[in-house]
Amino acid sequence: MGILKFKSHLSKLPSLLFRNNNLHTSKTFLKFNLLSANYCSGNPLQLQDNEHFTLPKFLDVHLSNASQTLKLHPTWLRDHCRCPDCYNAVTYQRKNDILKLNEHSTISAHSQSDGLLHVLWSDGHKSIYSIPWLISNTYEGRCRTQEEEANRLITWDGSMGNLPSLEPILYHNAMHDDNTLSEIYRRVIQYGFVQIEQVPSTEIDTKMIIERVCRMSRTVFGKFWETGTNFDHMDTGYLNGYLEAHTDNTYFTEAQGFLVFHCTHFNGKGGESFLVDGFHVAKQLKQLDPIAYDYLSKANITAEYIEPGEHFSSGGAILRHDPVSHQLEQIRFNMLDRAPLTSVPQSEVGTFYRHLRTLAMLVRQKENEYWFRLSPGTVMVIDNWRLLHGRNSYEGKRVLRGCYYSRSDFMSKARHYGIIL
Ligand SMILES: [Fe+2]
Ligand SMILES: [Zn+2]
Repeated sequence: MGILKFKSHLSKLPSLLFRNNNLHTSKTFLKFNLLSANYCSGNPLQLQDNEHFTLPKFLDVHLSNASQTLKLHPTWLRDHCRCPDCYNAVTYQRKNDILKLNEHSTISAHSQSDGLLHVLWSDGHKSIYSIPWLISNTYEGRCRTQEEEANRLITWDGSMGNLPSLEPILYHNAMHDDNTLSEIYRRVIQYGFVQIEQVPSTEIDTKMIIERVCRMSRTVFGKFWETGTNFDHMDTGYLNGYLEAHTDNTYFTEAQGFLVFHCTHFNGKGGESFLVDGFHVAKQLKQLDPIAYDYLSKANITAEYIEPGEHFSSGGAILRHDPVSHQLEQIRFNMLDRAPLTSVPQSEVGTFYRHLRTLAMLVRQKENEYWFRLSPGTVMVIDNWRLLHGRNSYEGKRVLRGCYYSRSDFMSKARHYGIIL
């Protein structure tokens, strides 16, 4: 592209562009970047108009609060143009053609001013980006944010000694006030659970608060379930014996993200509940035996659930990490639902059981168990990817109602409320 042709494009650029005198022409831009970034694709003075040349690989965006620069690849930039030709702002979907991205990714000029990056492409297309948006939507920015989010999680042991005493969340407020709803999400994300109090212990009120928080998820157990009055499913949870700490649905391809419990009736003895913060236990394991932590982050373990007409089976690591940020994302711990161990060769079995035992020992530590009694009027929402739950055996009649929320649904709402990114 020649300079004259480029100038004709400039005349069409929004006036905002002209506030910055540093707008580079194709040649000066190239020269600047080739020299400053030590690119060695040739002498910029030898470049001819319309010549195909190797562009500098990255465009440097200067960040305002530091001397740092964000290096952006031209193809990434073109792919993230949010102009109406490239992005449908109504459907929030891209409109560009992945097969044409590369040929459209030659930068002719760029400038930076007032928190905006302006790019003129060699095909005449113009893009304007908000620099904060660029930062938070790159790998580099997102990793930092995810790390900050992970650091905001407050893990706890059974004493709950490090948790602040919080205002109780009341049913009436949760039903009518969106700020209370947002607070429910914040607490679940931060602590792994929340209690909503003064809920009338009827089926209809339980359903109302459940649906107010998030849509119920339908699984093999139905949408809204009730234990203690029937034995509808072949699961120990429907019996009255002791239940060791576990997470649910390890046999689903994607375990349900959250559990909701409301004990609406109890007239017997025992039946106390407890929670274990799986992320706290994982931290302990990492400190005590990093090799075991690493092993259980990689070794595949399959779980299954069988009832007439159904056979669920799914495998995965016990400690699942986000593939990009590498932050711990899920603990899959259910010793009862383990399928035959077909994923570990016999030569490795000793190692497998040794590491699993170390984790199970930490899960069983009394100091890690937070005991309480589910009682009529209190609805609990529990993160099933983070907390393990269990229960004492009991006698008498105990009616427990509840549901699951899918991970996708609940996290979508949490994102909507600005609790997570
Ligand atoms: Fe369970
Ligand atoms: Zn565009």
